[in-house]
Amino acid sequence: MKLILFGPPGAGKGTQAKKISSHYNIPHLSTGNIFRYNIKNETELGKKVKSILDAGKLVPDETVVDLVTDELQNDKYDNGYILDGFPRTIPQAVALDKYLNSQDTSIDLFLTLSVPQEELINRILSRGEGRSDDTPEKIKTRLNVYFDETEPVLNYYKKQGIVKEVNGMGTIDEIFRRIQTVLDKI
Ligand code: AP5
Ligand code: MG
Repeated sequence: MKLILFGPPGAGKGTQAKKISSHYNIPHLSTGNIFRYNIKNETELGKKVKSILDAGKLVPDETVVDLVTDELQNDKYDNGYILDGFPRTIPQAVALDKYLNSQDTSIDLFLTLSVPQEELINRILSRGEGRSDDTPEKIKTRLNVYFDETEPVLNYYKKQGIVKEVNGMGTIDEIFRRIQTVLDKI
């Protein structure tokens, strides 16, 4: 199963991706986690993207696309994966489709978590992991970037007929059960 988990900052993509990954035994690929790992370990990539993540802006498409398409070559993704935080712009979605076409495959499902803005902000502010982009000012930037550049990706996949919307409000387990209902039909 190849799955895109989509939604605004704080929607619960990472939280639910972890649960899907362990329940269905498919790997979770989070571009945000990869960038944060590289920043922490002061790699070349980390140095390149640090100020961008700190600001709550988007890493250039080419950098992200190269990263994801390289990563997906790994055998561990052969039986499927959950993409979290990618694609985040129309050019990224187009590049992913091009890559998948070249591999004679495609995304099975695009799952979007809907959560009201006030709840997104509350969740991010109470995360407490010390993320440099979890401040009120950066959250505003991230939400603006989401509405301007990322939300159009939803329509791109709607045209492909693979979008399912899941109510992202409630407890983590309630939301996971809603996701299971959708995934068990695939
Ligand atoms: P990324 O790491 O993807 O961050 P994000 O999209 O801003 O989303 P978050 O990780 O904040 O939220 P989430 O939806 O994962 O929610 P979570 O489960 O953590 O990207 C970070 C940065 O990397 C970007 O700004 C950009 O710079 C760069 N980047 C990454 N991908 C890129 C790309 N493709 N192109 C360009 N740049 C890219 O939940 C949030 C909190 O709420 C947690 O504390 C959680 O415990 C809690 N929570 C979860 N569910 C519930 C619930 N049901 N009830 C109560 N609390 C809950
Ligand atoms: Mg996340």
